[in-house]
Amino acid sequence: MHPNVNLIVEPDYASMSKRAAEIFAQVLRENPNGAFGFATGGTPEGMYKELISMHNNDDLDFSEITTFNLDEYHPIARDISQSYYYVMQENLFRHVGISEEQINIPDGTAPDPLEECHAYEQKLWDSGGIDMQILGIGHNGHIGFNEPSDSFAANTNYTILKESTIENNARFFSKAEEVPRHAITMGIRSIIMARSILLLCSGAAKAEILRDALQGPITPLVPASALQLHPNVIVVADKEAASLLNQDTSYKESQKNQS
Ligand code: GLP
Repeated sequence: MHPNVNLIVEPDYASMSKRAAEIFAQVLRENPNGAFGFATGGTPEGMYKELISMHNNDDLDFSEITTFNLDEYHPIARDISQSYYYVMQENLFRHVGISEEQINIPDGTAPDPLEECHAYEQKLWDSGGIDMQILGIGHNGHIGFNEPSDSFAANTNYTILKESTIENNARFFSKAEEVPRHAITMGIRSIIMARSILLLCSGAAKAEILRDALQGPITPLVPASALQLHPNVIVVADKEAASLLNQDTSYKESQKNQS
């Protein structure tokens, strides 16, 4: 494993979620006024539950942070239960006292999505940068909604979802035809600008793509492979997801010995 990646392997989904929440909470306590990047998808749901209980039981304070979400479908209204705005409210924000003024999520109703991309990128810059970005990974290696492609999109962009992503995300809708065909997503540079990245990965079905992302070539065909360019990535994976990773630490050790 390369030295920029701090890999933590936990036995199962529950302990992965708990460990990730502890790491996040530490950064939040150190940066109570910081900017934090949130992700949707099923993977971080357990971590969000842990954060809610830390808020209720240990006074973990979210009241001064600014939040940025990676992406949003387009078109979709906020009050549709599958919109990422709605999902974040249900899974985290409304339970930890995060108010409307603290939230940034691309507008799924924007009449001009390209203008919305530009405005969102500007907001990211104006925030002074994200202290910790939470990420999941799609089965095809996407991060946010940056789908495999022949080039990396740097900035927040308007994207067409791949058929495989639509099929995968159909589990959150009543049928695949209801999944919006487009999304607005932070770009690869917008993501790796974060001062730290916390990538969560669970289950045997993600083992191959996690290996490709962390140990394969850096290529836009596997968008998550761009994380290899980031100096401070923490990966919290369960055993099944980590099963194909080469966890040889000798490279790390040899680097340490040289310094
Ligand atoms: C969606 C989101 C991604 C997420 C991915 C994986 O497509 N846009 O941010 O990482 O799904 O989802 P899951 O965690 O459910 O596997």
